[in-house]
Amino acid sequence: MRPRRVCDGVQWIGSIDWNRALFDELIPLPDGTSYNAYLVSGSEKTAIVETVDPEKAAELCAMLDAADVQEVDYIVANHGEQDHSGTLPMMMDRYPEATLLCSPKAKGILVDLLDVPEESIRTVADGEKVSLGDMTLEFIHAPWVHWPETMLTYVPERSLLFSCDMFGSHLATSDLFASDPSRLYRAAKRYYAEIMMPFRNHISKHLERLAAYDIQIIAPSHGPLHDSPAFIMDAYRSWTLDAPSNKVVIPYVSMHGSTAIMVDRLISGLADRGIAAVPHHLSSGDTGRLAMELVDAATVVLGTPTVLAGPHPLVAYAAILANALRPKLQFASIIGSYSWGGKAVDQLMSLVPNLKVQVLDPVIAKGYPREADLQAVDALAAAIADKHAEANLS
Ligand code: FEO
Repeated sequence: MRPRRVCDGVQWIGSIDWNRALFDELIPLPDGTSYNAYLVSGSEKTAIVETVDPEKAAELCAMLDAADVQEVDYIVANHGEQDHSGTLPMMMDRYPEATLLCSPKAKGILVDLLDVPEESIRTVADGEKVSLGDMTLEFIHAPWVHWPETMLTYVPERSLLFSCDMFGSHLATSDLFASDPSRLYRAAKRYYAEIMMPFRNHISKHLERLAAYDIQIIAPSHGPLHDSPAFIMDAYRSWTLDAPSNKVVIPYVSMHGSTAIMVDRLISGLADRGIAAVPHHLSSGDTGRLAMELVDAATVVLGTPTVLAGPHPLVAYAAILANALRPKLQFASIIGSYSWGGKAVDQLMSLVPNLKVQVLDPVIAKGYPREADLQAVDALAAAIADKHAEANLS
């Protein structure tokens, strides 16, 4: 790739990672990702905003060569996570005259994680502005999108927001600007679910603050840029603020078919009552899809067989994940089976203390589910429908 024009004086100099399959050794990346770095060339000074993952250091160097960047005044580190900052030491070697700008909290993180020399760092206050001549960098501290030190950088003369992880997507595409709304929506929702959802309250405050800025271009650190920012900002408002949907997510595993029969019966019972049922077979391994479905679900029903007296480990993992992601669920239950005993229900419930949910009576069959068990599943579907109706979910 070569540098690409974002707007007058601003170029994309990032890297597209078409083949990355896993992020943080945790998050599946079915569509790859990108690390977006930007060159901001003012009439008097030059800044680089964000860098790239260390795996892509050579590509960043090639971009800087292609853009013929001889001197840099500022390198802006909006975020300390290594996919943004990992090449900072290399950049400070390449441009020793540059001052590294970051939030006060980021300074310690960059020193701790990357051994960046403290004397090369200048911290910037919330709202502080740095002039590049005909363009200005205004720093907006935005804790918890994604880490506590994170900030955004705004260029008022271009109505451009470098939004760091916020409004991003793990989506490798040759389109500089978003051009396929439905594909982008799914990628951005998946990304929000995996990375942003635990910080919903912080995000809603940041959205409120950003409403006062004139933003025509959003340039995130991952995925395509937005030249119609209302699309992604409205999506974030909906994901963070709207009531959950009339939807039940059913993460489950079935070893010998009993739990699967109960899941199937539950899906039918919910569908008969006009409720969207989304089964998620955990053996698929795509926890990102599960996270995405949890963004707007009102209810989760975990389906588990009993393994060594407890829940199946994949179901326990799903419970731990849901607990960490803190979706806006309102109700929860468990269905499954056992052969000679166990504490699957108690153990699963102990794994989700962060979920502020009302627990509906679990249905656990002894062995193969009989008619009475299936009627109990029907009763669970009816109870969920009553709760959703009381909560006015649509
Ligand atoms: Fe793109 Fe929080 O890293």
